[in-house]
Amino acid sequence: MPSTRRIVYILATLGLMFIFLPEVLGQSARQAGMLLLLKAAGMALNGPGLVCVSGLGGYAKTGSIFGRILCYLLTLLLFEPVLRWIEHPLRAQPLAPQAPAQVTRRSLLVAGSGLVSATLMGSYAGLYEIHHLQLEQFVLTLPHLPPQLEGLRIVLMSDWHCGPINRPQHLRPAIELANRCQPDLVLLPGDFVSKSGAYFSEAGELAALLRPKIEGGVVVSWGNHDYWEGIELAKKWMSRAGCQLLTNQSLVLTPNRELAPTGRGLWICGLDDLWEGKPKLAETLARIGPDQPRLVLSHNPDVAEEQHGPRVDLMVSGHTHGGQVRIPTLGTPILPSRYGQKYASGLVQGPDYKVYVARGVGSSGLPLRFGVPPEVTVFELRRGSQVTLGPIRLV
Ligand SMILES: [Fe+2]
Repeated sequence: MPSTRRIVYILATLGLMFIFLPEVLGQSARQAGMLLLLKAAGMALNGPGLVCVSGLGGYAKTGSIFGRILCYLLTLLLFEPVLRWIEHPLRAQPLAPQAPAQVTRRSLLVAGSGLVSATLMGSYAGLYEIHHLQLEQFVLTLPHLPPQLEGLRIVLMSDWHCGPINRPQHLRPAIELANRCQPDLVLLPGDFVSKSGAYFSEAGELAALLRPKIEGGVVVSWGNHDYWEGIELAKKWMSRAGCQLLTNQSLVLTPNRELAPTGRGLWICGLDDLWEGKPKLAETLARIGPDQPRLVLSHNPDVAEEQHGPRVDLMVSGHTHGGQVRIPTLGTPILPSRYGQKYASGLVQGPDYKVYVARGVGSSGLPLRFGVPPEVTVFELRRGSQVTLGPIRLV
């Protein structure tokens, strides 16, 4: 008979497999089996070490060869006592014959309640919260905003991650929510797909469903996943959807609410991705006069720590997804930022300017969210003496 410890170990392993189920649904049995095996192996080899390396040195460190080796070595070190604990019953039975291990009522209760808890938490995080969109609503005051642009509504939607986890039927409610906000402009700061460039067509089809009041009012900048899955495909599908693509480029929203390459008004600037591209903040903003307001799209909020120069009124970002999992008092185990948990989500004061970090619409990596629901953001603009962001109910 298997020992209680082995039962717990098997159930825990099954629990790990369970959280990947939504990702493999819809794939062929062979593909799904391979994916599950790879994921399980990846988690077993890297999971605990990855959390340590990410927590100590930042998520970016886990991507290098050195980081991967460190993840693996740390995992081995961390698993050592666990493996000994699992093997203990075997070592503890030397030569003397012993009665076979009994599955007691207590062990069944422990294993059963563990399985029920894991199933409930997995179901909540993987089936409910991951698709439970929240609308964050703010009034944003900007100095020098032309009076004609007061009341302008801007919707922000980062990190769609169209792919195996985020199917069009999961993302369409976010598009509908954005349209219900009756936006003048929609800002999309990157990471449109995950896993394959084939999903850019889905991202393009979703972007074409957005209905900003201003013509050509869907403005795009790029994220690391867009580069990983094929930036040329990204450009092709998002421009086909009628989006404005900004790579270290800017457009101005004139007082008569038209987007133009030059003029005076509210500037919308899009930076290249920090990890895979070459963001150039100073060059992008160089042609903007000091008395004109400017918003900057930057997929990765770490740019605020690394690029300085001209004034930025507000940078809007995504990328970190709020960590996707937030454990009360402990925070987020994995956050892809070089600056700890600072840029997890919400309004953050950087060294020189403020950054609003959206939690993202889709999810990547683990197909779940816990304590970090997906987000669509809407800002209504007012003229003010300084940049402020306050809650408001608009929709
Ligand atoms: Fe992302």
